[in-house]
Amino acid sequence: MKAPFVYGTAADSQHFTDREKETLRLKNNFEYGVNTIIISPRRWGKTSLVNKVASMFDKNRKIQIVRIDAFSVRSEEDFYRLFATEIIKQTASKAEEWIVTAKNYLSTLVPAISVTADPMNPLSLSFNNMNKRYSDDVLHLPEQIAQEKGIQIVVCIDEFQQIGELSDSVFLQKKLRSVWQHQQATSYCLFGSKKHLLMNMFNKYSMPFYKFGDVISLERIPLACWQSYIQERFINSGKEISDDFIRQIYEYVDGNSSYVQQLSWLIWIATDKVVNDEIFTQAKNNLINLNGALFLEQLGNLTSYQLNFLRALLCGKGDDINKKETIDKFELGSSANVSTIKKALQKKEVIEVSGKNITFTDPLLPHWFHDNINLWL
Ligand SMILES: Nc1ncnc2c1ncn2[C@@H]1O[C@H](COP(=O)(O)OP(=O)(O)O)[C@@H](O)[C@H]1O
Ligand SMILES: [Mg+2]
Repeated sequence: MKAPFVYGTAADSQHFTDREKETLRLKNNFEYGVNTIIISPRRWGKTSLVNKVASMFDKNRKIQIVRIDAFSVRSEEDFYRLFATEIIKQTASKAEEWIVTAKNYLSTLVPAISVTADPMNPLSLSFNNMNKRYSDDVLHLPEQIAQEKGIQIVVCIDEFQQIGELSDSVFLQKKLRSVWQHQQATSYCLFGSKKHLLMNMFNKYSMPFYKFGDVISLERIPLACWQSYIQERFINSGKEISDDFIRQIYEYVDGNSSYVQQLSWLIWIATDKVVNDEIFTQAKNNLINLNGALFLEQLGNLTSYQLNFLRALLCGKGDDINKKETIDKFELGSSANVSTIKKALQKKEVIEVSGKNITFTDPLLPHWFHDNINLWL
């Protein structure tokens, strides 16, 4: 029997709910070559959405989707290597064809192409000598392949904020934009989670990627969709959960898609027939404990000022964080210090700031913090 709930990896078609409007919008963008930027907090469903839309083009020979995950990119060279490798691999099915493509378009690079028999990674393509000097050839690659084959290519780059974190990143961004915006048969879908970094890249007038494309800001999947999704899975396995418990799940994790699935799973697995308060409470505790190590590590890296700031936030003082009373009570130093702390916490992705509104990035952190507050006094 397949697990009724999935978390930790992108939701596949069986586990995918809602997102009809965004699916259609993204599908149209892919079809008509419109560049797209997708931004949402981590684990709300960007990768799942892009995978779903990409799979709708599986049988379409005229539109080829290339998916790249920039998560591990640490340098410009890394990026060019990954970009060239994935474009070549994903636009041709046979290794012989890879070699031809690489030789035709990247001949200056003298690529070393290795073909291994490892069943987990049957064919691998590697470049010995990737260097900034070759960047033009690499960036023109998808357009050249698309033109030659008479197809359209959509390049999807996940965790795109990595590009914004490289040293000399603005220079690289300028370069990417200047090449990409002139391409006719290639379009781009760029997405990632670090909201403040991505907003900075795409919404600032002075930045190269300003107005690069259609910006989709992914919202929470609504409670009503989760209600039918979760109900269906309980009913199909002869178990019962009330809509009120589903609402409580949703509220507890602040609508975070991944945690909704994880908490539902923990409840489902502990339920014989009908969900009750005891099962629900135990599952919530399990969820917190499962994530506790991560929080410990995250908070272990904070200064005492930063921890004081989080305590204030936890006590509902987010709106009054700059008031003298709050600064004194939570020992935050000064008003200038508060804004330094806020910036640092945002950079560390512990909090999200939107105007005056400050929230914890991870909706479980305040619950965990609350249970373990003594550790941090
Ligand atoms: N459309 C969806 N339907 C059901 N669950 C989803 C959906 N999108 C995301 N999820 C849940 O959230 C988790 C994280 O999704 P993912 O696409 O990896 O998010 P992101 O790329 O934004 O970090 C998935 O494992 C799944 O549990
Ligand atoms: Mg993702």
